[in-house]
Amino acid sequence: MTKEELSNIILPRHIGIIMDGNGRWAKQRGLKRSEGHKEGAKVFRAICDYAAEIGIECLTFYAFSTENWKRPADEVEAIMNLFRDYLFEAQEREEENDAKGMRIRYIGDRNALPEDIVNLISQLEAHSAEKNHITVNLAVNYGGRDEILHSVKEIATKVAAGELNPEDITLKNIDENLYTAGQPDPDLIIRPSGEYRLSNFLIWQAAYSEFWFSDILWPDFTSDDLDKAIIDYSKRNRRFGGV
Ligand code: IPE
Ligand code: IPE
Ligand code: MG
Repeated sequence: MTKEELSNIILPRHIGIIMDGNGRWAKQRGLKRSEGHKEGAKVFRAICDYAAEIGIECLTFYAFSTENWKRPADEVEAIMNLFRDYLFEAQEREEENDAKGMRIRYIGDRNALPEDIVNLISQLEAHSAEKNHITVNLAVNYGGRDEILHSVKEIATKVAAGELNPEDITLKNIDENLYTAGQPDPDLIIRPSGEYRLSNFLIWQAAYSEFWFSDILWPDFTSDDLDKAIIDYSKRNRRFGGV
């Protein structure tokens, strides 16, 4: 996007991206699915950098859902290895990421992840907690329903302890106990790969999100595609139920 284009549009504050189509991309080329994931991980890095460059405040990347454990063990392992590689690299590039003002957050249920990955996540989150140019949420073993369940349990614990009356539970209580607590709802959700569904991504937070779908497979997604999505978004009329 040119500087001029950028200055003429209202950017979404928070963009959610469902990184889908890696498997089909690999299949088209006669490669193993894991090769598609590898290529997809490269695109994730590039889009992350580009979004930071144009001034997006918050990005959420859906990398692995609570339902993706159903896949063959070797594919799950390949995805976890790519996640681990990225976390290692982020640690090595700490100075670079600090200079970009990048805050890294994990969203999802970390209990089911390998211990070394959980440790890497905690270190990166703690290290980058005060950065405020861009927040990058990594959704791994993330499910929107699981997130709401988690929030409900937190609230129920307070009720059981006598700290909160059931009648006093508000939408804000639910929000505050989601993995995304404190962050703006996604303004724009992008799903490539020709599927028109959320697949359990940010289902609570997406109540008023704008959607952008495309047939492009994630490993083929470029910064020009992100520009197109953002420009389309900027032409939408968001009413939030008003007139
Ligand atoms: C997205 O690509 C990555 C994950 C869900 C982990 P897919 O692996 O779902 O790719 P397709 O949908 O099979 O092409
Ligand atoms: C959604 O893609 C999850 C991620 C991209 C991480 P899936 O490929 O798992 O979704 P479905 O199964 O097509 O709905
Ligand atoms: Mg898929």
